[in-house]
Amino acid sequence: MRQNNADMFQVVRALFPHTKNVVYFNSASYGPFSTALQEAIYNNIRIRMAADYDDSHDAFTTQEQLRSDYAQLIGAHKREIGIGLNTSFGLNIAAFGLPLQQGDEILVSDIEFPALVYTFRAAAERQGLKLQFVPSRNRFFDIDELQKKISPRSKVLAISWVQFFNGYKNDLHTLSKICREHDLYFVVDGIQGMGVEPIDVHKLGIDIFASGCQKWMLSPQGCGFFYLSDRIRNQISPPFMSWLGTDWNMKFSNLFKYDQPYFDSARRFELGYYAVLNLMGMKASVELFKQLGIHNIQQHNYQLIDRLTAYLDDSSYYTITSSRDHKHRSSIITFTCPDYRPLQKKLLAEKIIVVPREGSIRVSVHFFNNDVDIERLIHVLKEWERKHG
Ligand SMILES: Cc1ncc(COP(=O)(O)O)c(C=O)c1O
Repeated sequence: MRQNNADMFQVVRALFPHTKNVVYFNSASYGPFSTALQEAIYNNIRIRMAADYDDSHDAFTTQEQLRSDYAQLIGAHKREIGIGLNTSFGLNIAAFGLPLQQGDEILVSDIEFPALVYTFRAAAERQGLKLQFVPSRNRFFDIDELQKKISPRSKVLAISWVQFFNGYKNDLHTLSKICREHDLYFVVDGIQGMGVEPIDVHKLGIDIFASGCQKWMLSPQGCGFFYLSDRIRNQISPPFMSWLGTDWNMKFSNLFKYDQPYFDSARRFELGYYAVLNLMGMKASVELFKQLGIHNIQQHNYQLIDRLTAYLDDSSYYTITSSRDHKHRSSIITFTCPDYRPLQKKLLAEKIIVVPREGSIRVSVHFFNNDVDIERLIHVLKEWERKHG
């Protein structure tokens, strides 16, 4: 079984041409493209260039498929999934659509990625809400501090699944329990875990889950999806609306009908006609995740990270800045050293693609990476330590 998995990962790696030239450890910023994605997008370009048949329904079929694929990947129903443009799309539905009143409080982390904070800040300014920042401890989200901040006016907890700069995976299970106890809407920015960490949004009682697909989901920039639970859907007033948010039953023969029912699904919150090339790319990418299985991907990535961690632990020069607690690990590992910025430049020069984030070097490991990639990274780190340590 283990061997089969290794073979499977080897086969999929071959679909990523960049692996011949660079060691890519930066999926937490943007994912590289596969030849499968390229073919899917080229195919759509060929169809549109030929322009000899009406392919508009292909987009509807692809959307249907994508809704059910993302639903399967996160443990949701298809009707709870909508296709958006990025993470912010779903976060905006939450911030501007949830039934909140003047004086209500939104709980957010004080080390959150700005996408979530700015969206809720704008909603707060418009609706007279208050952002309550939960102080972090050692740059990790702190549940005791969260408990202290909860008040009778608290209405929403909005938080990243995995922290972008150190890979800290929040304990959604405990957070969910707290949300239920205090009757808080539970909003999760899922982009840094989506595709590399298993999740069951139903079991976790998440109300809104938003994710772009440009990072770990290896899809074009400008792609994303959102989950709105059945429980919450009808409580949200759409912050925007489009003709495709209503159910035409796929009959577009009388477009002067203005009393169409809204979709009784998350589709109601989608916005007009689709970025079809992106949809085709998303579909090709999502297939890879279905084939490999998220659990297998997680194990694969963790094994590679363990090799790196073993080296970093042995070194007195480097310090791991990610959490060491198994519960909070993810496919992002970060470490630092006195001169981490020149080191990051050196790594780039060696064609090892990593980024600096908030005082550390961030290494994001994905399913196309292998042992050789990790060994190359360790080799450069060792040399650097020898010269500068
Ligand atoms: C946690 C997190 N949320 C959101 C985003 C991006 O938001 P969007 O997809 O809306 O551009 C990023 C990274 O770019 C991120 O790390």
